[in-house]
Amino acid sequence: MHEVILPVVGSAAAWRDEARALARAGIRAEDVVWRVGQSASHLFAGAAPVPGPGREIRLPRSALATIDTALHHSDPERFARAYAAVLRLSDGRARWGDRSDPMIRRILTDAKAVGRDIHKMHAFVRFRELPSDGPRRAFGAWFEPDHPIVEAASPFFAGRFGDMDWVIATPTLTARFDAGRLSFSATPPDQRPPEDATEDLWRAYYASIFNPARLMVSAMQSEMPRKYWKNLPEAALIPDLIREAPRRAAQMQAAMPTEPPARRAMVARAMAQREAVEPPPGTLDALRAQAAGCTRCALHGPATRTVFGEGPADAALMIVGEQPGDQEDLAGRPFVGPAGEVFDTEAAAAGIDRAKVYVTNAVKHFKFTPRGKRRLHQRPDAGEVSHCRWWLDQERQLLRPRLIVAMGATALAALTGSGTGLMKRRGGIEAAADGTPVLVTVHPSYILRLPDAAARTAAREALRADLSAARRWLETQAV
Ligand code: URA
Repeated sequence: MHEVILPVVGSAAAWRDEARALARAGIRAEDVVWRVGQSASHLFAGAAPVPGPGREIRLPRSALATIDTALHHSDPERFARAYAAVLRLSDGRARWGDRSDPMIRRILTDAKAVGRDIHKMHAFVRFRELPSDGPRRAFGAWFEPDHPIVEAASPFFAGRFGDMDWVIATPTLTARFDAGRLSFSATPPDQRPPEDATEDLWRAYYASIFNPARLMVSAMQSEMPRKYWKNLPEAALIPDLIREAPRRAAQMQAAMPTEPPARRAMVARAMAQREAVEPPPGTLDALRAQAAGCTRCALHGPATRTVFGEGPADAALMIVGEQPGDQEDLAGRPFVGPAGEVFDTEAAAAGIDRAKVYVTNAVKHFKFTPRGKRRLHQRPDAGEVSHCRWWLDQERQLLRPRLIVAMGATALAALTGSGTGLMKRRGGIEAAADGTPVLVTVHPSYILRLPDAAARTAAREALRADLSAARRWLETQAV
């Protein structure tokens, strides 16, 4: 048996190096025991494992990124599972994105749980100011995540609070940002930062943003689950705010203005002006920067950010999906979640290099309904698709692709004006409003929703065939 001891800090990075070396040496997954921090090697005395043939680990980038995320799960088996998976994926015994494979499905689920935990940490860490004897202000926070995510979640805080020194302590690891340098160490006992006057500021802030007319206790608890309350200074206010809510709501209703608020009129004027202005000729980067502040429809409100298209500005092939999903909304990049995994795998199998194509969506904000801890995808309506065509049309005009692949009915409607009868139209080549050829195919999420494995396999093969047809079309049509 081969025992690998990963360090407490940097265990995911160390796993990558170890996994590569073990694979190269031909060590089988069942012959490795993975531990973090301390050895129990006396349990494993015995014959050394007999190596099989060595191999290089070669996986799609999205697979590596998801496996890496899953390594931050609290399950002690995560390292062993990840090593077994990369071996199976590398030699073709498993296919990335195949949810009928329990090992792959488990990694995808773990990565999702880790992503959610990171999201919660970004939302619920509360800093208190600490005494500082240097030129920078110093802050500390205590947080209890479900998974060991501190290393994955902290770069966000370094970006957002780059001009301060801060410490975020968790029960296992502490992140420290000192004079612009991020480091991690094991957490010493009793490292909660002291209480101070900043608490009052938090309470005043929370009371001011609390709207009693919109009180939904269960939604509030699911967004800010009770277990986080004890470390949130403002949480002490919640019971009183809830008790007082009906009275304050009645007061607000009685005092409600009959004119629309001034700000709403200002926003409407700004939108009208924006619509009247011809889009400036420019680059995709300039367009992306403009789209980052898009308020053309209501979807920008609940979404985290605009998820704009990405890819080379001279790409011959443009891929259009529906709208970003949960993971795309968090990452700020299109097709990086489960649908992206299907797309990446089938595109690669069809001989299309994702790095060489421009990938975007018909709608640039994630539309969802909150359900417990989850944000459930909602299909964008015709109005939202039509508002967002403002961006899609400009992306197409600036990129001038030779061919567009429309994945699913929403993309097809945005590009050709009609999304009906997708299954009869799939595989065919139609024209966008400006004449650009549009190859019609299904959306990868449709494949993921199919109830049985055989249907999913057939649908993936059909998507791959459509993408192969797109590649061949580009190779054979004169430029
Ligand atoms: N589905 C889409 O249509 N686009 C994405 O970016 C992700 C999922």
